[in-house]
Amino acid sequence: MYSTSSSKPLTPSSVKRITDSIMEEVGKIVVGKKDVIKQVLIGLYTGGHVLLEGVPGVAKTLIAKTIGRVTNLTYSRIQATPDLLPSDIIGTMVFDPRRNDFVPRKGPIFANIVLFDEINRASPRTQSALLEAMQEKQVTIEGKTFKLPKPFFVIATMNPIEMEGTFPLPEAQLDRFMMKIIVDYPSREETGIILRRIHQIESFNVRPVASASDILGVKEAIPRVKVSDPVIDYIINIIEETRNHKHIRLGGSPRAAISMLLAGKAVALMDGRDYVLPDDIKFVAKPVLRHRLILKPEAEFEGISVESVIDEILSRVPVPTPGVQ
Ligand SMILES: Nc1ncnc2c1ncn2[C@@H]1O[C@H](COP(=O)(O)OP(=O)(O)O)[C@@H](O)[C@H]1O
Ligand SMILES: [Mg+2]
Repeated sequence: MYSTSSSKPLTPSSVKRITDSIMEEVGKIVVGKKDVIKQVLIGLYTGGHVLLEGVPGVAKTLIAKTIGRVTNLTYSRIQATPDLLPSDIIGTMVFDPRRNDFVPRKGPIFANIVLFDEINRASPRTQSALLEAMQEKQVTIEGKTFKLPKPFFVIATMNPIEMEGTFPLPEAQLDRFMMKIIVDYPSREETGIILRRIHQIESFNVRPVASASDILGVKEAIPRVKVSDPVIDYIINIIEETRNHKHIRLGGSPRAAISMLLAGKAVALMDGRDYVLPDDIKFVAKPVLRHRLILKPEAEFEGISVESVIDEILSRVPVPTPGVQ
């Protein structure tokens, strides 16, 4: 369960095989949502954390739980509330009468996949504690440091409708999430399948088709994925456009550019390739950028959305032709 970091890098064809089995197995439970599942896997593979945005009841929890099951990873869910304390997630020292000493009681953050539900309802202090753990991959319980398990992957959910008594994440904290993934309503047809399949979904019978060391092996393979100069330029051009756009107040950071590259490399591997195509970058551009860009107030006032601005940028920035690879 607590695998070491010295996993062997997997070959692109192994990554493709594992990804296909994961997608197939998750697909036995989760109806549709292929792109969402793929994007969550990109986060898991690269070690980037993700935000999942969607109204209640669109399978955010089901997706996280099912991915945990099929990858044989430990999973925990934390429901955020305004009175949730950092120690509620990290853990505390408790007195053990047998040993006549204080021993650590590790909190729910000690899992491979941590679903942090409704992150906006947690207090800024608890949000910071989570963000710090995400970054450091270790936590301190009353002066003692404990490493978090590997892989360590946080899926934080948020409701698209800002409710009262919530604490929006500051830009600097949003930037720490590799992607923001949107979970929409299922289509009419998908809803029909969900209804017909509901007892199978609820009984939740999936088998593990991958392991923690597989996931770590994918991560080790990422640095080996090649990326050509035209594809690097494509990323830079997209990022520059976000910084110079007439409707945007805050554009993409270097961390956004790096995330786009890493996520693009993960997509290449999932497809069994050892090189990145412009389409891989296109697939991840929106989830990587959408939570990082801030519109100018006048654009917002005119009803312009971040989504439409990113779409417009992607349609304008010339896509390098694969022949130049
Ligand atoms: N795409 C879907 N595929 C399968 N079941 C779904 C889907 N969307 C919703 N459901 C059903 O609705 C339930 C609610 O989903 P849940 O994961 O708890 O939603 P959320 O975490 O987004 O509030 C699921 O447990 C499942 O029974
Ligand atoms: Mg849920």
